[in-house]
Amino acid sequence: MKNMKAPISTLQLSYGESQEVQALANSLAQSILKPKRMRSLAERTTELLPDSLLKRMQPLLSARQPVPWRMGPFFFHVTQLESTPTDKPPNHPGTSLSEAAATLILISSVLGKVITYRKMKQSGKLFQSVFPIKELSQTQTAASSCEALTWHTEHATKKLIPDYLALFCLRNPKEVGTTISVPQVNTLKSEHLVHLRKLGVISRRNGCTRLRYDPLFSPPPENDIPAQKAYEELGQTIQDQAQVIAQVPGYIVMIPNTTSVHARESFHADFNGHDRWLIRTMIRTTSRTTQGTRGL
Ligand SMILES: [Fe+2]
Repeated sequence: MKNMKAPISTLQLSYGESQEVQALANSLAQSILKPKRMRSLAERTTELLPDSLLKRMQPLLSARQPVPWRMGPFFFHVTQLESTPTDKPPNHPGTSLSEAAATLILISSVLGKVITYRKMKQSGKLFQSVFPIKELSQTQTAASSCEALTWHTEHATKKLIPDYLALFCLRNPKEVGTTISVPQVNTLKSEHLVHLRKLGVISRRNGCTRLRYDPLFSPPPENDIPAQKAYEELGQTIQDQAQVIAQVPGYIVMIPNTTSVHARESFHADFNGHDRWLIRTMIRTTSRTTQGTRGL
């Protein structure tokens, strides 16, 4: 099959740019446990980011059909980073984690509104820690390890799904990446597109095709063979376009959650404080940010 995978863009920061972001993140870090305050501060602080950096981010934000991208490195005290949790995230994050989370929320606020859901683990926090937990190692959750995570849209079953998923890698000794696919849905058979639209898996908004795909938790109706065939073809297209984004400590990966799906390979976790550790947040692009970025 013809390879149509879009290359993943990386916005490589200069030392000076990273330092400026870190200075702003440091001032936000003390509010990390107060989500409302954190969000409003981050939105205001975003305006203090260097114009040159915002300008360099613009092409990534204004793509007609959003694609995944990555930026970094962000300097924080990696050597002083606390151990990867093994059971539950720390109630009182240390300085390094607070600064990293503030950095993630600050950069995410450039794209739109940082959101969380009330009924989710680590609810109420604008960021969530993602690390392997032994008891959950064989589940379809972010805390799994020996179980691969299957293709999905983040929170596909929620009424309002996040527009972006932002992942900041803190530690990743085994170099476990995130698998991403931006499927070319216009290559699907038209009769399959009809079924996928009817099921709400594919829709259109602002001229963009949007996906809501998680066949494990939201499968096609059992006796609906045509719908199952449509899912099958979409699943194959997703697989054909799969590529791995490396998760490198100090880098933020932005995943457009409505135009791509993601997954994760299985890996061996040691549960010894040195395992892979990402922090995650979710973003809803507002009409203001969407118009602003599209008009650039
Ligand atoms: Fe996910």
